[in-house]
Amino acid sequence: MHYESYDEYDAYTHLPGMKQRVMREVRATGKQSTRSKDEPSEWLTSQVEGEDELPITYGAGASEERLLREALTIFYRDNVITEVVARVKGGKEANVYCCRAHPKTGMDLIAAKVYRPRIHRTLRNDAMYREGRMILDEEGKGITRNERTKRAIAKKTDFGQEIVTFSWIEHENDMLQKLHAAGADVPRPIAHEGSAILMAYYGDVNQPAPTLNGVDIERHQAAAMFDRLMWHVELMLAHNCVHGDLSPYNVLYWEGKAVVIDFPQAVVALKNPHARRLLQRDIDRLAQYFARYGVEKDTAALGNTLWQQFMDSEL
Ligand SMILES: Nc1ncnc2c1ncn2[C@@H]1O[C@H](COP(=O)(O)OP(=O)(O)OP(=O)(O)O)[C@@H](O)[C@H]1O
Ligand SMILES: [Mg+2]
Repeated sequence: MHYESYDEYDAYTHLPGMKQRVMREVRATGKQSTRSKDEPSEWLTSQVEGEDELPITYGAGASEERLLREALTIFYRDNVITEVVARVKGGKEANVYCCRAHPKTGMDLIAAKVYRPRIHRTLRNDAMYREGRMILDEEGKGITRNERTKRAIAKKTDFGQEIVTFSWIEHENDMLQKLHAAGADVPRPIAHEGSAILMAYYGDVNQPAPTLNGVDIERHQAAAMFDRLMWHVELMLAHNCVHGDLSPYNVLYWEGKAVVIDFPQAVVALKNPHARRLLQRDIDRLAQYFARYGVEKDTAALGNTLWQQFMDSEL
């Protein structure tokens, strides 16, 4: 398991999401903050120290608790979640937590994916995935790329990197919304704000769903599961997307079903020059896993046919 020191989460208060949230609160209460730039806002302090605190019951360290309160209190106040009960996984770009759902949601558990600040440091080849994609702001709207913004992104100034960081999160949220609406086997999106995306949780409190690479499926399930995942690849392409990091590591296995996750790097198929290659890599990686169960496929032919149909607008 890999996660870094949580001290870096101090950086959160400098990100635009936090600033916007604080500003919204200032607007709502009509109070103009008199704090100096380096003092925590009254609102943040009350979020963190207030009586009605988000319960975090799995023994997180102090910095991680603070990060979680900053990222998830808004969902606690909105009666979406009632408690953070476990950290499912600490990833390179985000941590995923298991939360108890508020009864009004009609769900038992909710997964919260909380991005790390400065994820640009860990996203390899991020420019390749971003080609042909709009830079999105916190509302998920395209940012007008004026000269100043373009320069800031190219020069990787703090401002430019903040924009890019939030754009990744917005992009993942957008993909989840779009694919779920299209009937894809992806977690149902529940809510999104700032650095957190809430979605349906797969698994039990003590046993999160494993990823496909960690389970042995029955031989007789394999062919149908591969076909279903290929249908998924096709569905994404029909919506002008290539996952770009599809592999057994990004497929959850729960109650006999495969659920695809992890979309920040998904590319726009028609606009990204690497889309065809990434499509083939996605298909090859899936086929590699299923080959051990006797599923033999001509992956090059599968990729060619899908891409041709896509180019001929037949999907
Ligand atoms: N909806 C969910 N329900 C249950 N577990 C989940 C859910 N979403 C993610 N997970 C768990 O959290 C892990 C990390 O999620 P995800 O792949 O989206 O993030 P990541 O930051 O890209 O992580 P990594 O770098 O490990 O790929 C997954 O491998 C899975 O174990
Ligand atoms: Mg992943």
